[in-house]
Amino acid sequence: MSSGYTTSSNVAQLRESATIAVSQRARALKAEGRQVIDLGAGEPDFDTPEFIRRAAQRALDEGATRYTAVEGILPLRQAIADITNETNACEPITPGEVVVTTGSKQALFNACFALFGADDEVLVPTPAWTSYYEMVDLARANPIPVMGSVSRGFKVTADDLEHHATDRTRGVMLNSPCNPTGSVYTASELSELVRQAAERRWWVISDEIYRRIAYDGPATGVLSVAKHRDRIVTIDGMAKSFAMTGWRIGWAIASAPVARTLTALQSHTTSNATTVAQHGALEGLRQREMAEAAIAAMVNEYRRRRDAALDILQGPGAPGVVPPDGAFYLFIDVRDTSPDADDAGSVFARRLLEEKGVAVVPGAAFQAPGWIRLSYAAALAEVVEGVRRIVALRKEMLRPDQGDA
Ligand SMILES: Cc1ncc(COP(=O)(O)O)c(C=O)c1O
Repeated sequence: MSSGYTTSSNVAQLRESATIAVSQRARALKAEGRQVIDLGAGEPDFDTPEFIRRAAQRALDEGATRYTAVEGILPLRQAIADITNETNACEPITPGEVVVTTGSKQALFNACFALFGADDEVLVPTPAWTSYYEMVDLARANPIPVMGSVSRGFKVTADDLEHHATDRTRGVMLNSPCNPTGSVYTASELSELVRQAAERRWWVISDEIYRRIAYDGPATGVLSVAKHRDRIVTIDGMAKSFAMTGWRIGWAIASAPVARTLTALQSHTTSNATTVAQHGALEGLRQREMAEAAIAAMVNEYRRRRDAALDILQGPGAPGVVPPDGAFYLFIDVRDTSPDADDAGSVFARRLLEEKGVAVVPGAAFQAPGWIRLSYAAALAEVVEGVRRIVALRKEMLRPDQGDA
């Protein structure tokens, strides 16, 4: 039966976030009393460090309850600029080139909306975080998936991008460390892509939200390999490395004219990011020693879980996996568990949840439908048990003529 109203063409293509949908299904099963190991959520399982929580409490008591400038409080933008300038190879960032947003998601959306428009094409190295495709679509531009080779952990090269470029290409979305693969671009790989984008006059939107969660030290950011940054927008935030998902603080760094446009756009939608959360973020960025210790402790724990999971996934009978150098995801190949590789990840994820009580995200959410994504932002014992059940289900699903089961 018709619902009696229609939504506009703006949202005609819009799909619900598949990552959030999995968490909701896992929650529903838990509510029915089922035991579920939730390895679906892309959310740190740590609490925000205490020194940040205390600073926010103090800020509230001191009156941080009102609007701020749309682009965020100056000390926070100054702190973001200062930290970025420590590794920035381009002309120094000023606070006027930083826009604080309601999570990095808003920074990404605003950048896509401001830089791309009808019929523009935007290259999206794939697999990629589900929202990039939707954000580009919402800007009425066309996301063009560019699949990197599995042997390179799906990382793309300039040649890969060139093969998909047309005269309508306006930009490229980079994400290192990558959600969902955990792959990290080296400085030389990244500088090749940045050089190409500069030559072709493409915008680069570089999502560096996982930069600090990397197992060989912080990942290289585009500003440390670029010569000029007038067509680069970098995105970062507090959610992942500071375990501050619910605080909703992210930011975009862009040339002054672009930063002004992003601010104007935000002034008509959400205005400033939550004031007290900005003060918490400021403390996180200012108290360097405490922040470094907190991040190192979390990264060490993620490393322990990654290694334990890889021990099983690199053993006999296990599915293929991209060995991750960053973020907290494992991207697992289940193409051989179904006659239709285009459906394999979804079928596998559904059976894994319903029959084995483990929630993961089907690769279709990242435009790699034969794969699944596991988040190891969960207790070590749950990660290990979840991976064991994945291996067991794969063995059940392989046809008898398939070798290693
Ligand atoms: C690659 C990537 N970018 C951005 C975000 C959004 O982060 P935030 O919570 O800062 O909006 C996520 C969250 O899952 C992500 O995985």
